[in-house]
Amino acid sequence: MRKNIVAGNWKMNKTLQEGIELASEVKNMLTQTPECEVVLGVPFIHLAAIAALVKDSPIKVSAENCADEEQGAYTGEVSAAMVRSTGAEYVILGHSERRAYYHETCEILKKKTLLALKNNLKPIFCIGEVKQEREAGKQNEVVKEQLEGSLFNLLPEQFSNIVLAYEPVWAIGTGLTATPEQAQEMHAYIRSLIAAKYGQEIADNTSILYGGSCNAQNAASLFANPDVDGGLIGGAALKATDFKAIIDAR
Ligand code: PGA
Repeated sequence: MRKNIVAGNWKMNKTLQEGIELASEVKNMLTQTPECEVVLGVPFIHLAAIAALVKDSPIKVSAENCADEEQGAYTGEVSAAMVRSTGAEYVILGHSERRAYYHETCEILKKKTLLALKNNLKPIFCIGEVKQEREAGKQNEVVKEQLEGSLFNLLPEQFSNIVLAYEPVWAIGTGLTATPEQAQEMHAYIRSLIAAKYGQEIADNTSILYGGSCNAQNAASLFANPDVDGGLIGGAALKATDFKAIIDAR
């Protein structure tokens, strides 16, 4: 059966020293093995130090991005192989901030996904509609296009390594959370698309996380839904006590 996962996405926050401190705090708070997988999504420069720090703990480490080329003359880029070599096991791909500010298209994300999988990284692949699309009732269409455009080319055994994160863009960093009903409805729809493409077993084994202003107060009601398998947490992952409360809500 699928895993429950609570993953933090630190975005462009925390110096190396602050990041090590935060990761240590989270690690020290997990005195009992959590009931879900705990992942810290951290900036590239933090990866190696934090992966070493959490090595003998239940915490896994994720990058927030990787390059769409394998290696070579791509100044400033970080490849999937480099990410994996730090000890990281996950990579967040397709975040709406990457799509909006860095013009990452479905085609680019398809390449990144293949490179991540080739290098034994599990993508946490983000999908979700913007506000105007939700208001126009187009959310299902948008999410379907995102899945078809970047992931549905994968073979079943490749797709089995994908974690999805439904992140309605209007809820990210805004304090506006999807209601538990909206989240459940979309997660069930996403699972039905996976079932239609890859069969019910793979669909049932795919973890689908919710992201977008998920916090210590609303996490339990979101996670109570049968198709919500945890969360991708931005702002609330920057404080160890808040992040721990979200882990406990799962
Ligand atoms: P937020 O961000 O929790 O701050 O809304 C979530 C995300 O962008 O992954």
